[in-house]
Amino acid sequence: MNEITIGTTLQVYDSIEELSTDIKDLMNKAIEARENAYAPYSKFNVGAALQLDNNEVIIGSNQENASYPSGLCAERTAIYYSGAKYPKAKILKMAISASSQNQVTDKPIPPCGSCRQAIAEYEIKQKQPIEIYFMGAKGKVVKSESLANLLPLLFDNSVL
Ligand code: THU
Repeated sequence: MNEITIGTTLQVYDSIEELSTDIKDLMNKAIEARENAYAPYSKFNVGAALQLDNNEVIIGSNQENASYPSGLCAERTAIYYSGAKYPKAKILKMAISASSQNQVTDKPIPPCGSCRQAIAEYEIKQKQPIEIYFMGAKGKVVKSESLANLLPLLFDNSVL
């Protein structure tokens, strides 16, 4: 038996003010997108903004449904729209901000497992890492150099 250890290195910024201007702008678009979340059931609003290599920015927010599993997270709303609208564009960066309607969300909220798997597909497709930045409504911002960093042992199409 051999044991393997899997580790990830992330960068943590004290606040949005510590980010470079381009990332700060992208995060502000994610924060703005959060306002368009349709979250009457969870009361948890999430916004995502993608910077593409064609200079376009795509935004998304979570869209819920009375039949709960039919809703979709902000990250997948954004990444699927990006794939549908600009199939040839590469996604360079993704910014995510989440905010509860019930309490102050002051810690970074990472994308859920399903969103990580969905984002991984596009990272593999474009053969280029996607930088991921995530935060709550305020406070620290976490940066991951790639999606793969957030999803060790990811499932990909090499085995199909
Ligand atoms: N949600 C997202 O939009 N992204 C995530 O990564 C985690 C969860 C949404 C889904 C649902 O509308 C609400 O947050 C509560 O789970």
